[in-house]
Amino acid sequence: MDKHTIRKKIAACRDKITPAGVSKLSAMAGANFKDIFFPLIGRIKCVMAYSSIRSEVKTGGIIKFLVQNKIDVFLPCVRGNEIVPIKYTEGCKMTRGEFNISEPPEGNGSCRKGSIGLVIVPGVAFDRRGNRIGFGKGFYDRFLEKLPEKTIKAGLCFDKQLVKMIPGEAHDIRMDYIITEKEVIKI
Ligand SMILES: Nc1ncnc2c1ncn2[C@@H]1O[C@H](COP(=O)(O)OP(=O)(O)O)[C@@H](O)[C@H]1O
Ligand SMILES: [Mg+2]
Repeated sequence: MDKHTIRKKIAACRDKITPAGVSKLSAMAGANFKDIFFPLIGRIKCVMAYSSIRSEVKTGGIIKFLVQNKIDVFLPCVRGNEIVPIKYTEGCKMTRGEFNISEPPEGNGSCRKGSIGLVIVPGVAFDRRGNRIGFGKGFYDRFLEKLPEKTIKAGLCFDKQLVKMIPGEAHDIRMDYIITEKEVIKI
């Protein structure tokens, strides 16, 4: 199946999960995230998370956990064709940006791309080799390619979003981990 077909099919499938289901499964996926993150505490100072929209895995629990553990959390803000990380602080006034995604205030500041130790990557579909399908605009491919090799890229999705094979293209950036409510896949 081509990327376009997988994107449409899996997005529709994910949108069928009820809001209660999204919350429950997101909490389970969040617990799996903590399992991979605990051993990294002390080594990673900055994490780029994301603000969930629609039926994406919710990240509120993960963000809270990171802030409590004194990790600097950044959230993606869309500026033109690029994603810019802006710092999230507890209780900061969030605004709706491009695609109606919740963004921290610009005044909170950005960070050097090299200082980001781990990126939690949203997506429509993933396969077990780390391939990813996003919205179809390549935002994350352009962002992730500018990060150092050592930055850990962790795709976060529901088990339903795992597919057998995604035809990755040359510009597609692969994940190092994929985290679902059922498992953590290390690529
Ligand atoms: N690193 C890049 N540099 C320039 N353009 C890119 C880059 N990565 C992706 N693109 C553009 O984004 C388009 C969509 O990419 P695609 O991988 O299909 O989307 P997504 O990853 O969001 O599912 C590509 O056809 C390409 O034109
Ligand atoms: Mg891509």
